[in-house]
Amino acid sequence: MSTPTLRTIFASRAARKVLALAATGAVVATGVVALSGTAAAATTLGASAAERGRYFGAAVAANHLGESAYVNTLNTEFNSVTPENEMKWDALEWSQGSFNFANADRIVNHAQGRGMSVRGHTLVWHQQLPGWVGGLAAAQLRTAMNNHITTVMRHYQGDIHSWDVVNEAFQDGNSGARRSSPFQDKLGNGFIEEAFRTARAADPNAKLCYNDYNTDGQNAKSNAVYAMVSDFKARGVPIDCVGFQSHFNPQSPVPSDYRANLQRFANLGVDVQITELDIEGSGTAQANNYRTVTEACLAVTRCTGITVWGIPDHYSWRASGTPLLFDRNYQKKAAYTAVLNALNGGQTDPPDDPPPTGDGCTATISTNQWQGGFVGTVRVTAGSAAITSWTATVTLPSGATIVGNWNSTRSANSGTVRFTNATHNGAVAAGQFTEFGYQGTGTGSGATVTCAA
Ligand code: G3I
Repeated sequence: MSTPTLRTIFASRAARKVLALAATGAVVATGVVALSGTAAAATTLGASAAERGRYFGAAVAANHLGESAYVNTLNTEFNSVTPENEMKWDALEWSQGSFNFANADRIVNHAQGRGMSVRGHTLVWHQQLPGWVGGLAAAQLRTAMNNHITTVMRHYQGDIHSWDVVNEAFQDGNSGARRSSPFQDKLGNGFIEEAFRTARAADPNAKLCYNDYNTDGQNAKSNAVYAMVSDFKARGVPIDCVGFQSHFNPQSPVPSDYRANLQRFANLGVDVQITELDIEGSGTAQANNYRTVTEACLAVTRCTGITVWGIPDHYSWRASGTPLLFDRNYQKKAAYTAVLNALNGGQTDPPDDPPPTGDGCTATISTNQWQGGFVGTVRVTAGSAAITSWTATVTLPSGATIVGNWNSTRSANSGTVRFTNATHNGAVAAGQFTEFGYQGTGTGSGATVTCAA
């Protein structure tokens, strides 16, 4: 995706989109569709959202793109993606001036191959900054910020629908003040305006968003963002959209004025987007909250799309709160049905969540390596429910050969080796663990393990 090949890639992406659209009848890449008005209710989140002139996206992690259930769900249900971490500053420019786009490119290429649009997240944020950024003096920091924005946006020019140009620049609480960060502390209040002006110059066709959390209802923080956007619009500072992250849980529920808050921002002449939606809980209560959020977006003409912050619950940054639309077995939850029905304009009560199957097990591995040999110890930990048996699948580096094992039975000596529990250690109580081990020749460090129960 370097500049010389950009036109070629963009052209082929556009061609693929035309084919995809011909097949599905939906336009997703710009988040805007022409409606027939008589279309039958669609059966996936993306297609249903497209029928309402919106996109429905998910945060995606590059390291899950090799998992078939994950990819199938992504491809079937969603028509927009946001890289969860791969476009953050530490991922792209760990060393000053040296850019690594490999993981972000994987996600963008996957999205383009399926006709999905991409949200860029995020160019200027106080978190996930490499250490060198904090050490710069003001003039160097200004240059580094503008260089980062320009280099990243040019790399993806034509590929990104909307960019979170600045993320989370305001404090929580009642002050309405800016948050301390290297940018704020060294460049002052003007850094946000400068970032947006630089972004517009780098890619004039991308929509430029300000993105934040705890701004979902009217409060001191959202009022401060509102004042900034209002000022930007009045002075012609380029800004096209405001992202409302919408991370909800019992301590931070969906505010009663959620829709009104989206609408007041839209009234300023910007699009609004729900950018990182997740709602902790389960069953009907969770489903009703998801329905409320979806209906709020549909009620605001300039709410152009919804992105959920992950696909299955167990990959969420808040996994223990089961905040997403699919359970760990990729079964659709009641919340999924509520969103789909809302997108289709229906009032049907969602069915219950699929019966709980527990959340299985996780496994970690530690290897004691010496010249020519190794011992591996694997810890199998039960999830929130007890398990009665388990299988840990260990992938060994090439050349490693297992010569013995304990507290388990083993399927092979090398390569991918399945260890199942012995008779005495199949039962593991919720949250507890058991361990087994193996000894081998060659190099065993670097082995990886997955667990199923
Ligand atoms: O990939 C490394 C792994 O190699 C290492 O062993 C492990 C040990 O800590 O860390 C792994 O990286 C983690 C990364 O997620 C990938 O899992 C980072 O430590 C961890 O800090 C990072 O957390 C992300 C967080 O942002 C901070 O960047 C979450 O996945 C991501 O969901 C979260 O997303 C943010 C949005 O960007 C902004 N809004 C809030 C939202 C939730 O916090």
